[in-house]
Amino acid sequence: MTDPVLTLSGVTAGYGPTHVLKGIDLTLARGEPVSVIGRNGAGKTTLLNTIMGLTKMHGGAITLGTRDITALPPFRRNAAGIGLVPQTRDIFKSLTVEENLLAAQSGDATLDEAYALFPRLKERRRNGGGQLSGGEQQMLAIARTLMTGPDLLLLDEPLEGLAPVICDQLMQVFDDIAATGTRTVVLVEQHAEAALTFARRALLMAGGTIVHDGPAAALRGSDLLERHIGVALHS
Ligand SMILES: Nc1ncnc2c1ncn2[C@@H]1O[C@H](COP(=O)(O)OP(=O)(O)OP(=O)(O)O)[C@@H](O)[C@H]1O
Ligand SMILES: [Mg+2]
Repeated sequence: MTDPVLTLSGVTAGYGPTHVLKGIDLTLARGEPVSVIGRNGAGKTTLLNTIMGLTKMHGGAITLGTRDITALPPFRRNAAGIGLVPQTRDIFKSLTVEENLLAAQSGDATLDEAYALFPRLKERRRNGGGQLSGGEQQMLAIARTLMTGPDLLLLDEPLEGLAPVICDQLMQVFDDIAATGTRTVVLVEQHAEAALTFARRALLMAGGTIVHDGPAAALRGSDLLERHIGVALHS
């Protein structure tokens, strides 16, 4: 693999003394989109949180480019190029859309880029975060993370609870971001169909381990999906 952006070697991590991730080996290449699927409690969020520095590491190492970031706190990982959009959609409800974006801005990320991806946010730029619909809040949460200029964009179930028409719009935006080839997009998604359509490479997680890392197409029609997430997708 050329130009790895992130490498996890033998990573064991969790919360306090609890081990949730059990020996994760993973290499992400620059610009290569990846989707992560797995049933509730499989460890998907913990994987993203661990990459962001939000869990307790019990063993192993994490490298960003050639830099060992295992001991770096989250804000330094963010400055180094990792951006996480958490399942909780973190925005400031009392600030306007534009203030939310400017508060997150670092490096050379611009409002114009954010508004080009999300024209709806431009229309609502003077509205308070708390006045936005669920879909708009998710757009704002994603745009805020993009304002930090990440090389690696981690999306934790961004479609959860949103109307199908909004899900389609967001998936199109993720495709657009991935298509530039400059950011590596990692999409955690419960909807297996959306996840397997998004990326050619898919990780299937179960019990804090990666049980499949390879072509998304190979999961279609295989019994792995049925065994680990209880759905069958036809090829
Ligand atoms: N803050 C926490 N403290 C202790 N244990 C936790 C914490 N967060 C998650 N866990 C445990 O870690 C395991 C993996 O949880 P995780 O949230 O990573 O799963 P997930 O795959 O993201 O699930 P979901 O699809 O429901 O979001 C679960 O057993 C969960 O109970
Ligand atoms: Mg989760």
